[in-house]
Amino acid sequence: MKEVKIETTLQVYDHLNDTPKEVQDLMKQAISAREKAYAPYSKFNVGAALLLENKEIITGSNQENASYPSGLCAERTAIYFAGAKYPEEKIIRMAISASSKIHTTITPIPPCGACRQAISEYENKQNHPIEIYFMGESGKVVRSNSLANLLPLGFDKSYL
Ligand code: THU
Repeated sequence: MKEVKIETTLQVYDHLNDTPKEVQDLMKQAISAREKAYAPYSKFNVGAALLLENKEIITGSNQENASYPSGLCAERTAIYFAGAKYPEEKIIRMAISASSKIHTTITPIPPCGACRQAISEYENKQNHPIEIYFMGESGKVVRSNSLANLLPLGFDKSYL
């Protein structure tokens, strides 16, 4: 038996204003997408904004459903739209912001496991890292230089 250690390095900014200007701009788009979330059940609004290589910005928000599992997270709403509209464009960066109508959310909110798996598919497809920034409604902002960094032992086509 041998032990395998998996390490991840993330960057943590104290405030959105400390991130590069282009990141602030993308995060602002994620925040305005968040305000358009349809989340009457969880009251937890999430917005995601993607910067594509052609400079287009694609946004998405979580879309809930009375049949709960039929809803979709903001990150997948955005990335599937990008994949459908610009199948050949690389996704350079994703910004994510989440807020609750019930409590203040200052903790950076990472993408859920299912969204990590979905984003990972596009990172593998384009063979180029997708930089991820995530935050709550305010407070610290976390950066990961790639999705792979957030999904150790991800499942990919090599296993099929
Ligand atoms: N949600 C997202 O949009 N992204 C995530 O990564 C985690 C959760 C949404 C799904 C649901 O509408 C609400 O947040 C509560 O789980």
